[in-house]
Amino acid sequence: MTKGRVLIVDDEVAAAESFSELLSDWGYETASEADGIAGLQRAEEFRPAVVVTDVRMPNLDGFGLLRELRSRFPEMAVILLTGDGSVEMALRAVQEEGAFYYFEKPIDLQRFRLVVERAVEYSEARRENEVLRRQLRDRGAFGELVGQSEPMRQIYVLIEQVAPSTASILITGESGTGKELVARTIHNLSPRKNAPFAAINCSAIPETLMESELFGHEKGAFTGASSRRQGCFELATGGTLLLDEIAEMPTLLQAKLLRVIEERSVRRLGSTQEIPVDVRLLAATNKDPHEAVMNGELREDLLYRLNVIGVEMPPLREHLEDLPLLVRHLINQLAERHNRPARLISPEALDVLHSHSWPGNVRELRNTIERAVIICSGEQIERHHLAPYPVEQRRRVRNEDTVTLPVGTPIEEVERQMILRTLQKTGNNKTRAASLLGISLKTLHNKLRQYREQGLLPDFEKQG
Ligand SMILES: Nc1ncnc2c1ncn2[C@@H]1O[C@H](COP(=O)(O)OP(=O)(O)OP(=O)(O)O)[C@@H](O)[C@H]1O
Ligand SMILES: [Mg+2]
Repeated sequence: MTKGRVLIVDDEVAAAESFSELLSDWGYETASEADGIAGLQRAEEFRPAVVVTDVRMPNLDGFGLLRELRSRFPEMAVILLTGDGSVEMALRAVQEEGAFYYFEKPIDLQRFRLVVERAVEYSEARRENEVLRRQLRDRGAFGELVGQSEPMRQIYVLIEQVAPSTASILITGESGTGKELVARTIHNLSPRKNAPFAAINCSAIPETLMESELFGHEKGAFTGASSRRQGCFELATGGTLLLDEIAEMPTLLQAKLLRVIEERSVRRLGSTQEIPVDVRLLAATNKDPHEAVMNGELREDLLYRLNVIGVEMPPLREHLEDLPLLVRHLINQLAERHNRPARLISPEALDVLHSHSWPGNVRELRNTIERAVIICSGEQIERHHLAPYPVEQRRRVRNEDTVTLPVGTPIEEVERQMILRTLQKTGNNKTRAASLLGISLKTLHNKLRQYREQGLLPDFEKQG
């Protein structure tokens, strides 16, 4: 893996070559061209993250190239190299025309190296944001987060803003609203994306193990500690750590956590050695954090530390306009996972989903769709695949009104049972039965005759 692509454009071939060599030594993939027009063409094919260009060149000069690149490839970072006489223009190009940086010759290589590094980071971030913006436009999704309603768009904007920094973030919202997904998205859009993302769910781990889970332990630190173990903080070094369900963490441990955050170092249980911590902290809770403080579940000083920036996820019922998109996304995802044929949902079934209030939010929706996908044997999910979701308070169906048949019953037998039970229900009123069954009276008579001939008619019908 290279550190990224850099295109060098300089009419002085020897200079271009030595830059090219230098940059390859630093781990970049390079290409070079001798004038602006050739440079532009090369940029089109090579798609560099960074273009380093001389200012004075024949054909298209460095400023002209900058302008063309900015309009065609806004994600590329352009670094200008100026000789004497063009410094002022170069400065203006940075201030007004979006050049990333300019260097005056002779060039300070140490500084140059740093700037190229930053420029690649900048360009990658721009590219990723651009990818996400297109995704949102084309598919209504932002990374793994699906939805294009106003509340979700606000979440995306916030994520874009907070992702590049190292500030701690507290993600709140009801259960199943996508808090963990947001945490992952923040990590994936941050400069730490290639380092680990670790999550610890404070409600799922027994109190007695949580401390060692977080901070690690040395061999023999407590009964059962048969070997040395790294904690989440160490595992997430250089990356991001999500403290999920933070209000479920025992307050004593919250105090220790606070100490770790403040001192930026941890000690494994049973050790006196301080290990420096380089972790970005994200925390999530489905409780109202201020209420949790009042109830004594969450330490106020910890809340302050974690809640530098807050992201509040909207409940699904407040962005139901995203329902069709979410449903489509979930059908595709889950049909693939379970290798099922479902691709669509009928409008009636979608209506059913629309009228539910979704107290369990997207997770509940996901479970509903998963079940439907599994039991649906055709391409389209219908209303009855969503059976356990009562919309209008469904009355409990009385037992004698149902027919239970094992899977694999021949259709003719299903039909026969249906007809006979319906007759039974209507007190042998054939006209009503036919109408309930959606068949003509004549068809019903024919069927009954057929059953009689085959000896498949129970006694109650025979006299009829
Ligand atoms: N906007 C969304 N787009 C796509 N999938 C989503 C979205 N929101 C949530 N999900 C899915 O719903 C499920 C629940 O999401 P997640 O685990 O992130 O919720 P949570 O807020 O952390 O819930 P809890 O508070 O119960 O831990 C996951 O399967 C997740 O992928
Ligand atoms: Mg969660």
